[in-house]
Amino acid sequence: MVRETSISPDNFIYPLFATYGTGVRKEISSMPGCYQESVDEIVKNAKEVHSLGIPAIILFGIPEHKDAAGSSAYDANGVVQNAIKAVKDAVPDLYVITDVCMCEYTDHGHCGLIEKGTVDNDKTLNLLAMEALSHVKAGADMVAPSDMMDGRVAAIRAALDGGGFTDIPIMAYAAKYASAFYGPFREAAESTPQFGDRRSYQMDPANRREASKEVALDIAEGADIVMVKPALSYLDIISDIKASSGVPLAAYNVSGEYSLVKAAGKMGWIDESRVMMEILLSIKRAGADLILTYFAKDAAKVLNG
Ligand code: PBG
Repeated sequence: MVRETSISPDNFIYPLFATYGTGVRKEISSMPGCYQESVDEIVKNAKEVHSLGIPAIILFGIPEHKDAAGSSAYDANGVVQNAIKAVKDAVPDLYVITDVCMCEYTDHGHCGLIEKGTVDNDKTLNLLAMEALSHVKAGADMVAPSDMMDGRVAAIRAALDGGGFTDIPIMAYAAKYASAFYGPFREAAESTPQFGDRRSYQMDPANRREASKEVALDIAEGADIVMVKPALSYLDIISDIKASSGVPLAAYNVSGEYSLVKAAGKMGWIDESRVMMEILLSIKRAGADLILTYFAKDAAKVLNG
């Protein structure tokens, strides 16, 4: 009766990795229970997600072809575009969000265009806008830019409005830190930078005030939902943003946070299910309305009894 925080499958967004081919379901070794899946397999998985009462998925793409300009990212027949169409066809009630970023599509693995050995923020904006528009044309319900280029929310908003998609919202990865917790994801998405790191565009983990600034900029540019990422080492940031932003807040319980729990659970060192639920509850308690988590299906099973 006096419990202050509750958690429900309604709060979850489940990440899925779309790849080319058919009948492909390749487990990601550092993320047990998560797979790179071809579009036909994504559809089966999406049906299960929906049947567990989870309202939304977020799609990432592993394309067949990578190049310097990440051209598969905005290909109308790309893996993500095809996955969106197939999922919306088979499970129309499932809300489909797409991750908008260049790193999965560039041969150098960076989140933007490279000029003179470094990521060129402004030249990347047009590519991100084209990618977002192609996702929405394929039927995406919401786009989520994760690249951390300055000005990308405004560029994407303008492109969507220009294409007649004025009702499609943007969930901005607003406070995204340059974190070692993304390690397993980069194996999953095959997006490890081939040189350097992401510190010229992602945030310094030491900075707290800067998160509020990044969030305010994204909201001013038109973000409808803002995100803090990673979640667990950044609960103070989640709490700050919840108190100050006034828009719905998402938190990304990232790959490394998942892998740590899975590994210790497998070793028998922790009670995996209880630790999972405690982590998700803590993210909610800190202030997140929505949680992107690889635990979504496991946690929904616990919550559904
Ligand atoms: C793409 C992107 C990343 C994640 C989500 N979108 C990786 C990165 O920035 O290197 C990480 C997700 C996770 O670790 O679970 N930029």
